[in-house]
Amino acid sequence: MANKRTLVKHALAAVTAETDLLVQGWVRTRRDAKGFSFLEINDGSCLANLQVVADAGIPGSEHLPRLTTGASVSVRGSLVPSPAGGQKWELKASGVVLVGEADATYPLQKKGHTLEFLRSIAHLRPRSNLFGAVFRLRSRLAYAVHQFFQERDFVYVHTPIITASDCEGAGEMFRVTTLKGNIDQQAEADFFGRRAYLTVSGQLEGETFACALSNIYTFGPTFRAENSNTARHTAEFWMIEPEMAFCDLAGDMDMAEAFVKAMARHALDHCAEDLAFFAKFVDKDLHRRLQFVVDRPFQRVTYAEAVDILLASGQTFEYPVAQGQNLQSEHERYLTEKHFQSPVTVYDYPRGIKPFYMRLNPDGKTVTAMDVLVPGIGEVIGGSQREERLDQLCENMRHHNLKPEDYWWYVDLRKYGTVPHAGFGLGFERLLMFLSGVANIRDVIPYARTPGSAEF
Ligand code: 4AD
Ligand code: MG
Repeated sequence: MANKRTLVKHALAAVTAETDLLVQGWVRTRRDAKGFSFLEINDGSCLANLQVVADAGIPGSEHLPRLTTGASVSVRGSLVPSPAGGQKWELKASGVVLVGEADATYPLQKKGHTLEFLRSIAHLRPRSNLFGAVFRLRSRLAYAVHQFFQERDFVYVHTPIITASDCEGAGEMFRVTTLKGNIDQQAEADFFGRRAYLTVSGQLEGETFACALSNIYTFGPTFRAENSNTARHTAEFWMIEPEMAFCDLAGDMDMAEAFVKAMARHALDHCAEDLAFFAKFVDKDLHRRLQFVVDRPFQRVTYAEAVDILLASGQTFEYPVAQGQNLQSEHERYLTEKHFQSPVTVYDYPRGIKPFYMRLNPDGKTVTAMDVLVPGIGEVIGGSQREERLDQLCENMRHHNLKPEDYWWYVDLRKYGTVPHAGFGLGFERLLMFLSGVANIRDVIPYARTPGSAEF
């Protein structure tokens, strides 16, 4: 393979005709005509295929019959203007090499497949148009996340994946152990000399770094052992958690809003081909929705106002609405999709339904929590201003049946140069669902981990 490989994306975007290109990929379809064959080749670099015209008699043409859907191929040739509509260039082959055959059992045939079926072949689904688009978007948005924070001088911190603390206090942790038998009776003999878990959030460790480096963010795998088999929950997902020193709840909400807007803007600007595909096959309303998010300010309401809106809505919900109760996904979606018809940030939640680290408001009843809700998904961000007052933090911990001694290092932050600080967590998969219109979280993560399912 002497000359350099050209990706299909670059071949299709060529400005002038080029000779002696090497293009490699997988055959989507082959059509034979008298004296030549058409091959549609895709290499995942973009949604579009490159059309190859291979005359009978060129070197390797004897292998053309075995270049069936799914086979891998290497083609040398020249770009020539394509007479067919839709694309500017096609590749006139001077030689083809069959790299790897795919027999008739190749499961991705031309007809459309259901998402359920594609999940059962998660190792091959990236070769489909939909999943190629999803995972290109995912990659590009991961880059956009770093760009957004790096440009604002946030420091990227790799918080640990194995941890001893339960940040959210919901007890939804996966235990990490090398013990056999009764693991609860011998925790001191375990690998770390104590109980250890997969992290549910890097926030507590992130706070320690914000209280030194000012503005930080994390972006990494996060684990929740909640047994909820919904289209919006997975046991393993990726979370982005910025944390800002000398910041209050209002600053936190402003940053969350700017972040979601920037992600929508980035997708519109840099993923146009894939977004057009989603708009055609997944969500007709996608562009209008994203543009709306970019252009308009998010609505803001307190939790108490949100509950009043729900109570006055006249809607019948599956779960009852009452002051003091958690908002369920159906409630969140009513607020953002029906009532406000825009993203909405709900803030000042009752103390009893939120974790220990949130700052108690002067009313003594609510905490400085905020959730950003978006149409089609519901909650995409959860965050808060943190309790920076030593005595109040210890009181909050006891209120949640936690021992301040167990979190001594977290408490220390409030002893030594404490500052008001705030942050939030954004579920990366939920953001991708919002930006693509893909309705099930299993379809925006390469290999979904959900209750009862961890194949691949
Ligand atoms: O609201 P959560 O639980 O907040 C925290 O973990 C805070 N420590 C964040 C912070 O303030 N630094 O989770 C944050 C976000 C949710 O809004 C949601 O988007 C996502 O993480 N998320 C999940 N995504 C997929 N599957 C799950 N099981 C998720 N649980 C939360
Ligand atoms: Mg939450």
